[in-house]
Amino acid sequence: MIGGALHTSILKRAQDKSLVEFGLHNLRDYTLDKHKRVDDYPYGGEAGMVLQIEPIDRAISHLKSQRDYDEVIFTTPDGELFTQSVANQLSLLNNIIILCGHYKGIDYRVREHLVTREISIGDFVLTGGELAAAMIADAVVRLIPGVIGDEQSALSDSFQDGLLAPPVYTRPAEYKGWKVPDVLLSGHEKKIQDWRHDQAVERTKRLRPDLL
Ligand code: ADE
Repeated sequence: MIGGALHTSILKRAQDKSLVEFGLHNLRDYTLDKHKRVDDYPYGGEAGMVLQIEPIDRAISHLKSQRDYDEVIFTTPDGELFTQSVANQLSLLNNIIILCGHYKGIDYRVREHLVTREISIGDFVLTGGELAAAMIADAVVRLIPGVIGDEQSALSDSFQDGLLAPPVYTRPAEYKGWKVPDVLLSGHEKKIQDWRHDQAVERTKRLRPDLL
């Protein structure tokens, strides 16, 4: 699932240009169990299985023996909400481990002793943290200078200045009678900038007043 996300155009190109390096690690490669099991029954007799601490600790230790890591992030619905601001913070770090949570649950000592930051991508529950990890990777990596073609475009994203982005249009100037706003065709730079800002404020007030 994550491999698919990392091999799509922009993230793949970022790797090819050596702007970022991803490694995918399977916990089963770090278990000492001869059947490659990485989960076990919960203490206290609840339903379901729980991911064990040992393969996770061994995986993290192995990675840490190769380089320093700034954060060990755990994806979980009860974590801090992932926002553009969190993406910005993470994009400034050198190395990050993202440990994918699992619907079966995970030995809580992992969160107490190994994880440094817990992140949720929204108030809903996924079957596992893989999609959450892929989403975090995408939002963070695109902020690295050079990853998306036009560096300006990351700065003018929705949320980057706390406002939703203004609308954009391209040719033709009129289609089926539907017109591009006159101001954008005026060539008047100041008026265009003012219009974009007004639109950003208006759309934010209307669609996401909580951001203001
Ligand atoms: N794992 C399951 N649900 C999740 C969520 N909403 N955010 C992050 N990780 C998760």
